[in-house]
Amino acid sequence: MPSRTDNGVGVQVEDTKICVVMVGLPARGKSYIAQIAQRYLQWLSVPAQTFNVGNYRRNDAPQPPADFFDTNNAEGERKRRAAAEAAVADMLAWFRTGGVVAILDATNSTKERRRWVNDICVQHGIEVLFVESKCDDQDIIMANIRDVKSTSPDYRGHDPEAAVQDFLNRISKYEKIYKTIDQDGDEDEYTYLKIMNIGKQVIINRIQDYLQSRIVYYLMNLHIRPRSVWLSRHGESMYNLDGRIGGDTLLSPRGEQYARKLPDLVRESVGDNRPLTVWTSTLKRTIATSRFLPLHYNQLQWKALDELDSGVCDGLTYQEIKDRYPDDFAARDEDKYNYRYRGGESYRDVVIRLEPIIMELERSEDILIVTHQAVLRCIYAYFMKKDQAKSPWMNIPLHTLIKLTPRAYGTEEIRYEANIPAVSTWRGKGSTAKHENPTPESL
Ligand code: ATP
Ligand code: F6P
Repeated sequence: MPSRTDNGVGVQVEDTKICVVMVGLPARGKSYIAQIAQRYLQWLSVPAQTFNVGNYRRNDAPQPPADFFDTNNAEGERKRRAAAEAAVADMLAWFRTGGVVAILDATNSTKERRRWVNDICVQHGIEVLFVESKCDDQDIIMANIRDVKSTSPDYRGHDPEAAVQDFLNRISKYEKIYKTIDQDGDEDEYTYLKIMNIGKQVIINRIQDYLQSRIVYYLMNLHIRPRSVWLSRHGESMYNLDGRIGGDTLLSPRGEQYARKLPDLVRESVGDNRPLTVWTSTLKRTIATSRFLPLHYNQLQWKALDELDSGVCDGLTYQEIKDRYPDDFAARDEDKYNYRYRGGESYRDVVIRLEPIIMELERSEDILIVTHQAVLRCIYAYFMKKDQAKSPWMNIPLHTLIKLTPRAYGTEEIRYEANIPAVSTWRGKGSTAKHENPTPESL
């Protein structure tokens, strides 16, 4: 009997193994897509790992000129083949340690190379999902080259303009042999997603199971238009003052001050003329915090943004929880990410219910999210690639606006303090303090 494991998206599945095989000419965003897919899957606790063939090749050929990539260059061919074999060998070893989704990041631009990867995977019981990025928009390609290629390790120490020329030359070597998936009509049996010009058009072929369909749906929603996501907790609430969790109380007087100041903070960060959409939870404290924001901002309430449900512990202080449910209190400290309150939720549950929010965020432009401590920790962990076991211990203070701007390789962060005092609702392991200063590791 195959073992049954949780695939991280809340569904029990036969132990799936998927190899996502990237396809496309250089500078088509393959590594970008690979790292974003890995981040999404790891956030869902799906063991996911990218194997970048270029990194293996660099061991043997750190800064090869464009001619290295010419198929008539026997030495280049041999080294590139060896790099691909080493990456695939490591990938197979990783699957044996419990890996679920591997992403093989290379151009895989010929039918022969795709057949080779496919056959190895099939022999090892691994499903293959080809993900091709096709792009013929010269402006995007040139921007990609200038943005990330001319500063890649392949050109470290080189003149940037010479690097751009060499890279264009490299692309032309690939163009001679590149075939888009199923160009000749004989790759129709493969499972694939073909993304054209960053999602203007997509082709989906033979998607087989739930996890594959999640990955495909996620990748279809990505865009690279510049945008930011602003995050804020609600203003200090009456329960925050009392050190009580959950509930649906209104703002304290200082929380009210924050609500009145939020429009200025937002204006300072967003600017006057940029359209912004505001998402809140359905609880009074986030709605109250957003009520002075400009009327021309669209506002939307999401149940999925409500605070982690603390079940029978709703409305209690940490001391009361420890007194009434000592075993639960200890169990939560032991594994805070997975601990589910009696009749309530765990952080893992929150992540699963936030998945539609993440999908919508990926499709959207500028968004301000006003929500709660646990929910913000989960969203922040997604953008900043925080380890899920550590994310429930992060300090996300009250009365602070956080601006996150996704870039090609990572997310930039700026924090704006409202300078309105508020209690700290952060709690260290073992503590039952009502208000406690965060430790440096939690920042
Ligand atoms: P190489 O084969 O040389 O490794 P690559 O295809 O992996 O190239 P990336 O390094 O991922 O290319 O390129 C990153 C750039 O691609 C970023 O600037 C990113 O904004 C952009 N990008 C992301 N998605 C796409 C897409 N679907 N099509 C084109 N460009 C994209
Ligand atoms: O040219 C881009 C690149 O990412 C190289 O860095 C890497 O060596 C190569 O593609 C990997 O793909 P392939 O298997 O087609 O050589």
